[in-house]
Amino acid sequence: MTVKGYNKFKDSPDDHDFMTEEHIAGFLRNHKTGIDNFGRHTLAQIVAQYKGCTVVDAACGTCVNWDVFKRVGVDCNYIGIDRTQGMLAEAKKRYGDEITLQEGYVQELPLDDGEVDVVIMRHIVEHLQEGYEDAVREGLRVASKELVLVFFLDPSDDAEDVIQESQPDANGCTHFWNTYSWPKFTEFVAGLGVQMKVGHVATPGAAHADTIVRLIK
Ligand SMILES: C[S@@+](CC[C@H](N)C(=O)[O-])C[C@H]1O[C@@H](n2cnc3c(N)ncnc32)[C@H](O)[C@@H]1O
Repeated sequence: MTVKGYNKFKDSPDDHDFMTEEHIAGFLRNHKTGIDNFGRHTLAQIVAQYKGCTVVDAACGTCVNWDVFKRVGVDCNYIGIDRTQGMLAEAKKRYGDEITLQEGYVQELPLDDGEVDVVIMRHIVEHLQEGYEDAVREGLRVASKELVLVFFLDPSDDAEDVIQESQPDANGCTHFWNTYSWPKFTEFVAGLGVQMKVGHVATPGAAHADTIVRLIK
C-alpha cells in the first residue's frame, strides 16, 4: 500500500488509530448502521446505474458498502481508500481479493484525474477539520461521472458552518462533528459546474438519517 500523503493534519493523533481490533470488526455494522442501512442500499442503486463501473469508496472504513453492493448484485469494481490501516486490514480479512484497498486521504486521493467512474464519500465530510471543500474538489477530480456525498448530520439553514471539535480523549485525540450551512454548500457547488441531485433517506432505528447529495458531471 502506498500513501501519496495528505500532510496537512497527518501529525495529529487520530482516534481511529487507537481502536481495538474488536471495535474495528464491529465498526458501523450494528444499530442499523450496517448492511441493513437504507442509505447504503440507496448508494447501491446509484452505483448500479453504471453497469461495470469502477467505484471508489473514499474513507471506506471496513467496506460495509461493498458488502451491500455484493449482496444486491451491483456489477462494479470496488476500490476502498481509507487513512486508517486497521480499517483496511479488517476489510482485507473479510473481502480478500474481491476488492482493491489503498491507504489514502479523501483530500488527496492516490488516483489520476478521471481515473474512476464514481466516488463515494459517506459519513466523512462532517469529520474534516478544514471543512468539505478540498475533499469535494478531489472527489470530482478523480470521478469521471459523479461524486456521491452522504451527510449524517443534516446541513442547516444557517448562513455559516458550525465546526465542532470534541474535548481531547485519553490519547489526546479530538474529533469533529461539523454541521454545514446549506446556503454556503449550494453556493460552493454552483461554482463546480456539476448537476446536483439531493435525497433524504431515513432508516428506522438508526441514530442518523442520510442526506445524499449526488454531484453529477
Ligand atoms: C465514520 S467512518 C465512515 C466509514 C464508511 N464511509 C462507512 O460509511 O461505513 C469514517 C472513516 O473515515 C476514515 N477517515 C477519517 N479521516 C479520513 C481522511 N481524511 N481520509 C480518508 N479516510 C479518513 C476513518 O479511518 C474511518 O474509517
